[in-house]
Amino acid sequence: IGRSWKLLETVESTQTVAQQWVQDGAKEGSIVLAEQQTSGRGRMGRQWHSPIGKGIYMSMILTPRVPMTLLPQITLLTAVALCRTMRKQTGVDAGIKWPNDILAGGRKVSGILLESSAEDERIRHVIAGVGISVNLEASDYPEELRAIATSLRIESGKTVDRAEFLAAFLNEFETLYDAYHRDGFGPIRSLWEALSVTLNRPVAVNGPQGTIEGVAEGLDDLGALLVRKPDGTLERVMSGEIPIVPG
Ligand code: BTN
Repeated sequence: IGRSWKLLETVESTQTVAQQWVQDGAKEGSIVLAEQQTSGRGRMGRQWHSPIGKGIYMSMILTPRVPMTLLPQITLLTAVALCRTMRKQTGVDAGIKWPNDILAGGRKVSGILLESSAEDERIRHVIAGVGISVNLEASDYPEELRAIATSLRIESGKTVDRAEFLAAFLNEFETLYDAYHRDGFGPIRSLWEALSVTLNRPVAVNGPQGTIEGVAEGLDDLGALLVRKPDGTLERVMSGEIPIVPG
């Protein structure tokens, strides 16, 4: 991963550049990086705040050898790789909020956005977008984000070398990605569960079918969250969002 790369100054979104590169025949493991994005994309139609020189804004072009339905596993794998890299490189006590937000000190420090193109049920190309708030200061965030967003620098009290962090992340990701193709999702799931800040806690998940409240008990093979409701039944939640409570 990352042996073929493009480093750009200003782009709308590295996802768009990566999509174009796929059309032009990019190889698996190619990555696109930018110093700043003018309209970085987040999940659920949100924007990703991408000020110049302060973060890592990256899209990885992947061709995982798994069926389309297992795609959420790649997101969970990416979250595990990010979380482990943050802990090792910066000492920050990072955790994963289901499905794929990385939190530190209760606020968001990184997000993942997977976009795919499929021909039949096999996945051809997945573009895994990763945004990491590395050296942002509180004053780099607009007012409305300050209570829910943080950075590695804010949490560790130190400036983090972005090139070093990126190299460590790519190594960690590649190791897990190879292990995933060799040994399946089981070991990744265990790592995810150990890093999760969602499991065994009360949750309110906002999803397509409204809000589901209960206790998060686990993760199934497709990456769905298993929520035990007050009436004792277990509900599988495939997609949704657990809001960050400012505090
Ligand atoms: C989220 O938490 O909602 C996902 C945020 C993903 C942001 C990254 S930054 C690099 C890549 N390019 C984009 O436009 N988005 C992703």
